[in-house]
Amino acid sequence: MEILPPADWKELLDYMSKGGQTVLLLGAVDSGKSYLARYLLEGLLNMGLRVCLVDADVGQSSLGLPSTVSMKVFGKPGDIANFLFEEFFFVGSIDAARAAPLIVEGAKKFVDACRGRSDAILVDTTGLVSGSVGRDLKLRKIMAVEADTIVALQACGEAEHIVACMRGQRVFRLPISPAVKRRSREERARYRKEKVRRYFDATDVGQYILQRNSAGFLYMGRRVDIADRLIRESHAAKDGLMALCRDGRHGDSGHTYPGLSDSGRTNTDHADSGHAALAMVAPAMIVECDADSIEFLSPVKSLRGIATVLLGDVTV
Ligand SMILES: Nc1ncnc2c1ncn2[C@@H]1O[C@H](COP(=O)(O)OP(=O)(O)OP(=O)(O)O)[C@@H](O)[C@H]1O
Ligand SMILES: [Mg+2]
Repeated sequence: MEILPPADWKELLDYMSKGGQTVLLLGAVDSGKSYLARYLLEGLLNMGLRVCLVDADVGQSSLGLPSTVSMKVFGKPGDIANFLFEEFFFVGSIDAARAAPLIVEGAKKFVDACRGRSDAILVDTTGLVSGSVGRDLKLRKIMAVEADTIVALQACGEAEHIVACMRGQRVFRLPISPAVKRRSREERARYRKEKVRRYFDATDVGQYILQRNSAGFLYMGRRVDIADRLIRESHAAKDGLMALCRDGRHGDSGHTYPGLSDSGRTNTDHADSGHAALAMVAPAMIVECDADSIEFLSPVKSLRGIATVLLGDVTV
């Protein structure tokens, strides 16, 4: 990817060269957040800094897979060649408004974990900045990760209602690069599909069958039963029902992929959320399912220790 940095990006890079910042990138969709993150990452690595990238964009994830928050610590310029997450946090949806509490939780978990391991932290975010939903999500994220620097990429003040709430954070307001290419809905969906397909193609995966009784199944923090036909076959993901088995019956379209966890805890064990105590082990791609089991591909070496399957509503 060729990055054409507008002149004022250099000022931000110089500021970050001292290290120690937690920088959160704000901007509407197609404002150039991910390219800016990549520019800063490359620039800082070339200066010899260790940089943690937290990708909290659950829709157009660059480091991770759709519907996950992910992270990687980059120690040297060569690490960029392997631009793939180290750890991920499954949120189960590409709808940022819907998954907001889990996105905030995942971002916090990774930023906290990165503090001792890196000289600077970059948090890339979704393009949801408008309205009170966008503002609340972004403010909660900023507070949760204790961002000290906010970068607002905007054409005409789209993120200003968020920036106006800042107290004490350093704010950089940057114009949108003329090099930005807008992507259609279809291109975004294709990007997600490609991302997942490439991950599963490039990763050494095994095929497994997990019996219904040998693991817990959670959907957005709620315990569900795959024996329930609605859970397995529904096409109405937008109504809060997943389409777990859609692919098995409809050819190539609509693979769903859950996250596997080694913790058996649920949101009844943890009052605030269903995922707080869950360690994510690996993603999985559903191949087939029935009332008693699911069959899936996953990079895990065995099913030993897999206690929970985190279901989502993403089909790619
Ligand atoms: N500085 C740049 N130089 C060259 N191309 C750029 C630059 N910034 C953005 N682009 C182009 O515009 C596209 C969109 O930019 P980018 O992915 O960074 O936006 P985004 O704000 O992260 O979007 P989203 O909200 O969908 O995640 C990129 O795929 C790239 O083709
Ligand atoms: Mg992006």
